[in-house]
Amino acid sequence: MDVYAAVASRRAVRAFTDEPVPRAVLERVLTAAARAPSGGNLQPWHLRVLTGAPLAELKKRAAERAAAGDPGDEREYRMYPPEAKPPYAERRSAAAAQRFGALGIERGDAAGRRAAVADNWACFGAPCLLLAYIDRDMGAAQWADLGMYLQTVMLLLRAEGLDSCPQMAWSVYRRTVAEVVAPRPEWVLFAGVSIGFADPSVPYPRTGRVPLAETVTFVDGS
Ligand SMILES: Cc1cc2nc3c(=O)[nH]c(=O)nc-3n(C[C@H](O)[C@H](O)[C@H](O)COP(=O)(O)O)c2cc1C
Repeated sequence: MDVYAAVASRRAVRAFTDEPVPRAVLERVLTAAARAPSGGNLQPWHLRVLTGAPLAELKKRAAERAAAGDPGDEREYRMYPPEAKPPYAERRSAAAAQRFGALGIERGDAAGRRAAVADNWACFGAPCLLLAYIDRDMGAAQWADLGMYLQTVMLLLRAEGLDSCPQMAWSVYRRTVAEVVAPRPEWVLFAGVSIGFADPSVPYPRTGRVPLAETVTFVDGS
């Protein structure tokens, strides 16, 4: 698979089969992804890869919290800017409308939306979860490094025929995650990435992107 095909076919998959992901494939992908760039070559990422009984236990504990309406642990970083400003507020609500609409959940159906969101903590059925931590004293540049690293992982997964879903949602129940994976206290949980094989029986709407001219300006003197 060439890089364009990997980029084009990657999407946030929210329905996986229970087919296990071979350990050798995970090791191959994570070994290759370590070639991702980072400022000063700091490689400021710490990963935990969960499968089997530990993942089942994490899903169970997180699902219990979600079912109880637990709003989550105090946040260690802001997921979104505090004020919903254009054009981002519109893009975010369009994405939500598309996502929940595809599941047949009406706009005002708060319980339906909650249930769909709660599926995050079941990894959408995926048999593998990668958890991405970064040292608390790292700055914006290193968080960007971590993002590049995770995208590299997700593209390599495509090359292996695997799918993924990046999930900030795991940071909401980060203390429960910590009970299972015992991270160092100086680490912040950025996100999880559910990994597995997409369930082909579940249709999905392709997410949109704004036209190139909205985000890119060529400064070429012409
Ligand atoms: C850092 C990051 C965190 C995300 N967190 C979640 C999440 O918690 N739950 C979820 O369902 N999707 C999550 N997503 C997926 C985005 O909603 C998705 O990437 C976006 O809507 C574009 O869709 P696409 O990836 O299918 O192209 C996250 C994506 C990124 C990059």
